[in-house]
Amino acid sequence: MDGNGRWAKQRGLPRSEGHKEGAKTFRRIGEYAGNIGIRHITFYAFSTENWSRPEAEIKAIMRLFGSYLQEALDRLEEDKEKGIRLRFLGDRTRIDKKLRDLMDTVEDATKDMAKVNLNIAVNYGGQQEILHAVQTIAADAQKGLLSPENLTLADVEKRLYTGDQPPVDLLIRPSGEQRLSNFLLWQCAYAEFWYSDVLWPDFTERDFDEALLAFRNRNRRFGGI
Ligand code: FPP
Repeated sequence: MDGNGRWAKQRGLPRSEGHKEGAKTFRRIGEYAGNIGIRHITFYAFSTENWSRPEAEIKAIMRLFGSYLQEALDRLEEDKEKGIRLRFLGDRTRIDKKLRDLMDTVEDATKDMAKVNLNIAVNYGGQQEILHAVQTIAADAQKGLLSPENLTLADVEKRLYTGDQPPVDLLIRPSGEQRLSNFLLWQCAYAEFWYSDVLWPDFTERDFDEALLAFRNRNRRFGGI
């Protein structure tokens, strides 16, 4: 969800206002994705590297995240037909305990929603995710639960935060950046990339449609011919 800071700067506003607007876009696009039949969508809210930002900005982002979670809980009944299952990708240990508890509650409360699986990546890093999977594999091998020579791709995949979810088909990056930035490294092995200069707070349903249309016209060969 890139470009929040620049969006705010262009208007002479503090960066937190850009994140506030970005959070609105997140709600809009998340809902829209569910409405048009997207089954899995992931939003990158906070990376393992984002802790290097000023304390006040981190607090503002976490506050917005917390407000969204509380709102999702409060609206659970009226939002039922939207069928949004919320899940979180990332290392939760560094996240404030209250927020962490809220994440657990929301995950549990929406676990039977079946229309769209909406992941929010928080304190997420793709390299860290793979490292974590490798650590659990090494521990299992040490216990004699698996042998290294029989290890499969599926053994790694099921240990990722995305667990049983499918790999990424399409990666959308707004605001003119053309980097992967440690996002779903394993899952993006054959992802199609789509870039846009639009700053995230200005990102619309039409931009999303444009990305999907471009995706539909890609010739995916997965290494074949
Ligand atoms: C990247 O733009 C944005 C972030 C690091 C934070 C995104 C967080 C939210 C939109 C709000 C909280 C999350 C939810 C799910 C409600 P940037 O700050 O790097 O922008 P810039 O590149 O213009 O500086």
